[in-house]
Amino acid sequence: MGFDSGMGTVQRRMAQTQEGVGRRKATFEALCITAGQHILDLGCGGGHLLRDLALSVGPKGRAVGLDPSEHQINAAKELCKELDNVEFSQDSATELSFADGTFHCIASIQVLEYIPDVDAALAEVQRVLKAGGRLATVSVLWDHWRFHGPEPKLNDQMHEAFKAHCSHQMLPLEMPTKLAQHGFVGAQCIPMGFMNNSLHHNSFAWLASGLFTHFAEKQGIAKEDVQRWREQLDQSAKEGRFGFVSVPVLTTAIAS
Ligand SMILES: C[S@@+](CC[C@H](N)C(=O)[O-])C[C@H]1O[C@@H](n2cnc3c(N)ncnc32)[C@H](O)[C@@H]1O
Repeated sequence: MGFDSGMGTVQRRMAQTQEGVGRRKATFEALCITAGQHILDLGCGGGHLLRDLALSVGPKGRAVGLDPSEHQINAAKELCKELDNVEFSQDSATELSFADGTFHCIASIQVLEYIPDVDAALAEVQRVLKAGGRLATVSVLWDHWRFHGPEPKLNDQMHEAFKAHCSHQMLPLEMPTKLAQHGFVGAQCIPMGFMNNSLHHNSFAWLASGLFTHFAEKQGIAKEDVQRWREQLDQSAKEGRFGFVSVPVLTTAIAS
């Protein structure tokens, strides 16, 4: 899935919703940051977490934002422009340019599930963390990222088309085993499920419905079916029975 141009713009708006703020807060708390630390934000997107990390580690610390997308890196640079302890790396998580044991902590929100060779990324994360360093990562249980439209068959079709964009659709289930295989200890998973029952134009659900329609059309669902599905959601919202549910999972572990 590419995050250049329009997709990146929608993603950055989603990061600023109440739900986006909530998962950054959970990640932040899990890292137990102290001043002077060196922290990597893997797949930093528009830099919302990166900015807070940089402020927290203070002038003697360093926050590095890594993302392969030039658009995302440029947006993150703009957001962090007044901070002089932020650095950027336009790279993939599967091949990091940092020396072994560079970072005290690594954060990564909704990134690992998009990386086909997620094991290569986890090996790199373990390599560049100091022994005892903390990883806090959020991935979504995509089977449960669901709208509840009134026409079940169409709703399921839309859902299947959307899920196809993601390499690892149920990654949180596999994370504890994968982390142990890569030498992490103490893996813990905390589900952070939420429900939206409003479709206002800055709600997570409304932004997500735009992504759904984009992917459905790309996967060959007829334009008129996609349009009907969207109208059904609007109608459900008017009648007070609209629902969108997501279950992001925070996974934490310690590097050995
Ligand atoms: C859903 S966005 C999340 C961005 C940010 N972490 C946030 O929570 O706002 C996923 C990000 O992962 C990045 N990404 C995709 N493949 C990647 C890879 N192989 N290595 C690192 N980041 C990657 C994308 O460019 C995009 O910015």
